[in-house]
Amino acid sequence: MSMLNGNSIRVFVIVFALLQLSTATAASFKKKRVISYDGFDDSHRSVLTLLESSSIHGGALQLTPDTTNDDMIAIHYNKSGRIMYNKPFRLWLSDDTLASFSSAFVINIFRKKNWIAGHGLAFLIAPNISSIPANSYGQWIGLTNASTDGSVDNQIVAIEFDTVRQPDFDPDDNHIALDINSVKSEKFASLDDDNIILSPEVGTNYTVWVDYNGTFQLMEVYMVEEGQDKPSKPLLSAPINLKEHLKQDSYFGFAGSTGDPQIQLNCVLKWSLDIDILPRGKDRKWLRIGLGVGVPVVTLLLVLLWATIVYRRRRKGSDEAADQFGKLKWLPGMPREFKYKELKNATNNFHESMKLGEGGFGIVYKGVLHPHDKDDVNRNNHNANQVAVKKFSRDSIKSKDDFLAELAIIHRLRHKNLVRLVGWCYEKGKLLLVYEFMPNGSVDGHLYGTSNQGTLNWSHRYKILTGIASALHYLHNEYDQKVVHRDLKASNILLDVDYNARLGDFGLARALENERHSYAELALSGVPGTMGYVAPECFHTGSATPESDVYGFGAVVLEVVCGRSPGIKIQQQQDLYTLVDWVWMLHREGRIVEAVDECLNGEFVVDEAKRLLLLGLACSHPIASERPQTQDIFQIMNGTLPVPRVPPFKPVFQWPSGIPTPLSDTDNLLSSLALSSQDDVGRRRAITTSQRNSTHPQA
Ligand SMILES: *[C@@H]1O[C@H](CO)[C@@H](O)[C@H](O)[C@H]1NC(C)=O
Ligand SMILES: *[C@@H]1O[C@H](CO)[C@@H](O)[C@H](O)[C@H]1NC(C)=O
Ligand SMILES: *[C@@H]1O[C@H](CO)[C@@H](O)[C@H](O)[C@H]1NC(C)=O
Ligand SMILES: *[C@@H]1O[C@H](CO)[C@@H](O)[C@H](O)[C@H]1NC(C)=O
Ligand SMILES: *[C@@H]1O[C@H](CO)[C@@H](O)[C@H](O)[C@H]1NC(C)=O
Repeated sequence: MSMLNGNSIRVFVIVFALLQLSTATAASFKKKRVISYDGFDDSHRSVLTLLESSSIHGGALQLTPDTTNDDMIAIHYNKSGRIMYNKPFRLWLSDDTLASFSSAFVINIFRKKNWIAGHGLAFLIAPNISSIPANSYGQWIGLTNASTDGSVDNQIVAIEFDTVRQPDFDPDDNHIALDINSVKSEKFASLDDDNIILSPEVGTNYTVWVDYNGTFQLMEVYMVEEGQDKPSKPLLSAPINLKEHLKQDSYFGFAGSTGDPQIQLNCVLKWSLDIDILPRGKDRKWLRIGLGVGVPVVTLLLVLLWATIVYRRRRKGSDEAADQFGKLKWLPGMPREFKYKELKNATNNFHESMKLGEGGFGIVYKGVLHPHDKDDVNRNNHNANQVAVKKFSRDSIKSKDDFLAELAIIHRLRHKNLVRLVGWCYEKGKLLLVYEFMPNGSVDGHLYGTSNQGTLNWSHRYKILTGIASALHYLHNEYDQKVVHRDLKASNILLDVDYNARLGDFGLARALENERHSYAELALSGVPGTMGYVAPECFHTGSATPESDVYGFGAVVLEVVCGRSPGIKIQQQQDLYTLVDWVWMLHREGRIVEAVDECLNGEFVVDEAKRLLLLGLACSHPIASERPQTQDIFQIMNGTLPVPRVPPFKPVFQWPSGIPTPLSDTDNLLSSLALSSQDDVGRRRAITTSQRNSTHPQA
């Protein structure tokens, strides 16, 4: 056993002592608090897995979409979601020891007066965190679906809070129940007699306790309005041997669903879990037999082996992250690595006054590198001491992925219209990127006068847009691997000393599985400064494409030419228009030039303005395949290619796009006109106003 060293022997001694203790106290385990949340925000994404329509919003877990905006009502229909805690817990041992646990949580199943409540929320124990059955909306509560319901392969146990009566198997529309592999409950309790209405018209927080006594194999559920004491009597009490139904190591979390027309907000506001910690690795049964037959040597060896494995595994885990970064450091052409202390000094301890802006993943600070820090920075150029430091806000695990993705991409990109990465830092779990400093700030600052640097004249605007077109062309076509920017917007376009546009923030260029959430979040939370830039298909596919970048580019073109944000409504007579719809309307009425920013006082090149506006509309085509290609955009801008024909009415957004619909086809065009784009307009209006109207669970 040459692998033993001083450390593993120490570990062994401790483990052995603990084992002795645990056998001495027989089957009694100490319950430990493993989950404890008094509210939720994005930082919890690193410890929770969100599936399907779930999100974290308004300080709560939202199993289904969170909004009470009537314009967005459609987003609620037929939704389901799960949010699971990332780590499994051991629920039983082969000697029939069952873990006891108690979980307490606060839920709010809000519905508006004019909504029919539905369908339900559930506390869930599941075999994995990676899957939710397809079509688990409606009566299936995110637990099962029409084909999986009742299957023992599900290995799920849940406490449901059901607000819709299924005539075949539910007692009423206001009950809690114990579900085993099926929404056809094992045992239920109606709440009508207990003065509890699960989904009242006035949002109400309820505290729920789900207690499982492993010794007596009994599940009990208590529930009262938040703030009251735990009642002495459970509402539901059901015998159940969890070992018969659940995987040994299972996951805890929540599920929820809505139907059509039954909808409600399914929120979890607080959550704690206390559970017996059963030993992992070798099962106690075998240990006991080993001890029983009196072969202590064998046991000792087993324990030694186990301890070593545990120790090695633990060491490997902590080394892995370090290794990853260790390798990164030595990639050729890597930007410089900074010490955290250097950046802390440079930004005056990340002082508020140094803040340049805030992005989806962190805050950007201005930094001034002190002379002794700037070994490889040009000493003659005073400005070279200035940098922009992006400090990632999420906690380590999640943002490490973002960080690695961002670093891997940008360290290889070189283009005069991209912001250059100067360096990076990863220390004590803190992630930072250092970019060259852009003295003229971001485009939106100039357009809306927040930067005090005066408005942009026409030639500046034209230069900015050609610069962005050029950068986009590079990302999509010239770079050896296609890079989709995903987050094109005015606040991401920075200006250097000569007012050349520099595209920044590749923060959203992340692994695919994260995208759905990021778009769902955008749609639901109405992140300021992002509305209007996201292509309609992204809300369906959840993924960004070169075409969706072109859509974002179109929004930027219209914004820069018109001096208006795509997310802000424009009032014209009785109607409210989005920027795109407004420009489209002016185009239809043959007066598109009137869209040009009034701040320019008429000082612009009419031909160029027309071309840019039409290009902006063409890029805003609701159907992705109809938008101009990036390689053509540059030529359209300088007039070597004609501007694509823009129909008088904005075509309809179709999903799924299914059959390609060539616009030149007159029939298609006519039917588009007849239908108009209600769906799309409605959706966008909903999105742009969602921030104002989105209601948190306490509503
Ligand atoms: C919801 O699902 C039901 C059938 O499961 C369907 O009839 C209904 O059209 C769906 N509603 C929406 C808005 O998708
Ligand atoms: C139920 O879910 C499974 C797994 O996601 C899926 O394969 C199956 O098609 C779904 N059944 C129905 C009726 O949607
Ligand atoms: C997760 O568990 C479900 C049963 O609830 C099963 O159908 C599915 O295949 C499992 N997924 C993985 C990745 O193990
Ligand atoms: C299980 O129930 C028994 C009988 O009520 C009780 O003595 C025991 O303390 C309970 N165990 C836990 C962990 O609550
Ligand atoms: C419900 O709980 C949340 C979060 O703790 C709180 O903000 C809200 O005011 C509560 N609502 C009610 C109706 O008590």
